[in-house]
Amino acid sequence: MTIHSKNPKCSRLIVGNNGLQTIKIGPAVLPNTVFLAPMAGITDYPFRCLARSCGAGLVVSEMIASQALIRNSSRSIRMASTAEKEFPLAVQISGSDPVVMAEAARINESLGAAIIDINMGCPQRKIVKTGAGANLMRDEVLAGKVIEAIVNAVGVSVTVKIRLGWNHKSINATRIAKIAQDSGASLVTVHGRTRSQMFSGKADWSAIKEVKEAVSIPVIANGDIHSPKDASLCIEVSGADGIMIGRGALGRPWLFDQILHFLGTGEDKRPPGLEEQYAIAIKHFEHIVDFYGLPVGLWLSRKHLAWHTKGLHGSALFRKSLNNTKSFNEVRDLLRRFYEAILTTPISSGSPDSDGSA
Ligand SMILES: Cc1cc2nc3c(=O)[nH]c(=O)nc-3n(C[C@H](O)[C@H](O)[C@H](O)COP(=O)(O)O)c2cc1C
Repeated sequence: MTIHSKNPKCSRLIVGNNGLQTIKIGPAVLPNTVFLAPMAGITDYPFRCLARSCGAGLVVSEMIASQALIRNSSRSIRMASTAEKEFPLAVQISGSDPVVMAEAARINESLGAAIIDINMGCPQRKIVKTGAGANLMRDEVLAGKVIEAIVNAVGVSVTVKIRLGWNHKSINATRIAKIAQDSGASLVTVHGRTRSQMFSGKADWSAIKEVKEAVSIPVIANGDIHSPKDASLCIEVSGADGIMIGRGALGRPWLFDQILHFLGTGEDKRPPGLEEQYAIAIKHFEHIVDFYGLPVGLWLSRKHLAWHTKGLHGSALFRKSLNNTKSFNEVRDLLRRFYEAILTTPISSGSPDSDGSA
C-alpha cells in the first residue's frame, strides 16, 4: 500500500477487494481505477448509472460551465445533480476565472459532488477562446491559481484533466501535473493528445509515463482504449495508476466489466449475449425518458440507441426508423422488433452485420 499524503482531501493508492490496485480519494474508496471519461452531451445521469452498473470505478459528469452554474442555470444544475446510485460522482467544471471556478465548485459540492474535476483539456474553439479548457495549460500561473482557489473553496477532493500540451512544440503535461499536485489536487488524468490534435491521430500512452514518474498523486491515462488488451497495454506503457474510457464505452458499457476481468485474470470475457444487450438498451432508454421526460428524453435517447445497436444486423435501417418515431411506445416497440428479429433469425454465414446494413 502506498500512502501519498496525510491530507484527508488527498488520494492514496490502496489494494481493492478484487486484489487490483485502487484509489482512496477523500473519504471514498473507489471500487477500481477504470473510470468513465467526461463527455459533453453523453455522460449524463442515466449513462453514468449504466457505466457504474457495468463496473466503472468512477464516473465523471459532462463538463459544466462555471459561469452558467453560478448564474443558476437550471440546465447546469440538472447536469450537476447526483444521487446515491452513482456515488462518488466527480463533477467536471470548466472556466478560467479562479473566483468563479471556486464558486462553481462550492455549488457542486452542495449538490452532492464527491470530487471536483477541472477541465484543462477541452479543445473546442468556443471554450478555448474564453481561456478555459486546454487553453488553461498555456498559462501555468493561472492554472495553479484556479486549482488552488478550488482546493481552498471546497472540502471534497479536486482532480484535474489535462492533455499533453497545446501542440507538439509546447508539451507541458508534466509541469502542469506538478503544479496541480503542489496546488493541492488529488489526482490528474492525462489524455495522450495535444490540443492541436483535437481527436485525430493516436493517443500517445508512452508520453504519459513522464507525468507518472514526476508526481506522487495518482495519474490516470486516457485516450483510445477500446478493448481489454488496449487497457492492459496502456497501463503497461504509461505506468499509470488507472485508465479512463470515453468513446470505447458508447453502446458497450460492459467494456468496464470486460477490462476488469482481463486485468484481474488475464482472460477474455465475452460480451453479454444479445438478450442481455437488449435488456441493457431498453433499460437505458427507459431511464433517459424517465430522467428528462417527453419529448426531450426521446430525442436524447436516439444517439445512445444508435450506439447500442451499432454493428448489429439491420442497424442502419433501425436508425432510420428511429428518427421517425414520435412516442415512447413507438421506440420501445421498434427496439423490441429489432432485437427479436436478430434473435429469431438463424445465423447463416459471417458476422451479424454481414449484409452491410450496419
Ligand atoms: C463527444 C465528446 C465529448 C467530450 N466532452 C468532454 C468533456 O466534457 N470534458 C472533458 O474533459 N473531456 C471531454 N471529452 C474528451 C474525453 O473525456 C476523452 O478525453 C477523449 O474522448 C479521449 O478518450 P477516448 O479515446 O476514450 O474517448 C469529450 C470527448 C467526446 C468524444
